[in-house]
Amino acid sequence: MTFDSAADSATPGPPDIQALRQRVQEQVGQVVIGQTGATDVVLVSAIVGGHVLLEGVPGVAKTLLTNCVARALGMSFGRIQFTPDMLPSDVTGNSVLLDGELRFRPGPVFTNVLLADEINRTPPKTQAALLESMQEQQVSIDGTTYTLPQPFLVVATQNPVEQEGTYPLPEAQLDRFLFKVNVGYPAETDEVSMLLSAHRGLAPTAIGDIAPVTNAAELLSIRAVVESTVLNETVASYIVSLIRATRHQPQVSIGASPRAAVHLMAASKAAARLGGRDFVTPDDVRFMAPPVLRHRLILTPDAELEGTRPDQVVTAVLNSVPVPR
Ligand SMILES: Nc1ncnc2c1ncn2[C@@H]1O[C@H](COP(=O)(O)OP(=O)(O)O)[C@@H](O)[C@H]1O
Ligand SMILES: [Mg+2]
Repeated sequence: MTFDSAADSATPGPPDIQALRQRVQEQVGQVVIGQTGATDVVLVSAIVGGHVLLEGVPGVAKTLLTNCVARALGMSFGRIQFTPDMLPSDVTGNSVLLDGELRFRPGPVFTNVLLADEINRTPPKTQAALLESMQEQQVSIDGTTYTLPQPFLVVATQNPVEQEGTYPLPEAQLDRFLFKVNVGYPAETDEVSMLLSAHRGLAPTAIGDIAPVTNAAELLSIRAVVESTVLNETVASYIVSLIRATRHQPQVSIGASPRAAVHLMAASKAAARLGGRDFVTPDDVRFMAPPVLRHRLILTPDAELEGTRPDQVVTAVLNSVPVPR
């Protein structure tokens, strides 16, 4: 007797970003209640190879969510809690003398998902060490270059309330983040479910309940699929028009860079795939514009004084540039 099971002999289909998103949300949702937008953003960044800035007050699950997404993605997770006395080598690693020989001791940056907690609590030199690694995907120490594991994703957190003794990231560094997301308070019903779902007292919620639903190889093949998403000339021109319009807003002193245009394109391709399409529409671009652009607009001192928010400028830009149909 032979078994001819179609399921057993089936070759795996092409990697599917929609299915992956659902699996990741299911896993993370066992531990983190709500905050599904932030989970999506971290997932998309891991897929396209970008980095995320999460802004929010303490205690809104920034750390928990990042840790959970890393686990669901089957990737290694590391954390750096930034402090004022931290040195660049505390991030990248350094050479140590071992049995009379110089050996490289890798720093915490050598991981798939790195949580850079309270990045604006450390001086610019140490921030720069991390941001260079993000950009280069490698670390150079004493003339030797060490490549970081792939995928490599930095999730940096900062507190929206600027405290004394913080070092705001310079514009040039902010531009390296694909997304900035504001992690707010959960909805009241979510906050109640949070208490009901995990009767675990004050212990950290059960991160161990999360099962990996993918791996680095699959993520990289999904990345290739996302990159292959079609961007026609009309939509490419629309992206460029939006980016250029940010440079002419009266409330803006420095608008979005060409790098921002590249990032908006990459994010829009992911949005298209999440919508089940293999081509980018203007709506994909509009959907991704706020999280991609909000941290890259430097407002004029007058606009700052008046309390203008970058998101208002992004909205004005989206309203002023005609949408191709
Ligand atoms: N949305 C949420 N779902 C589940 N638990 C939450 C949520 N928000 C906060 N918590 C609880 O608060 C704790 C603190 O979260 P944490 O990730 O350390 O916050 P942050 O990094 O933003 O300061 C979590 O370990 C969890 O117990
Ligand atoms: Mg935290």
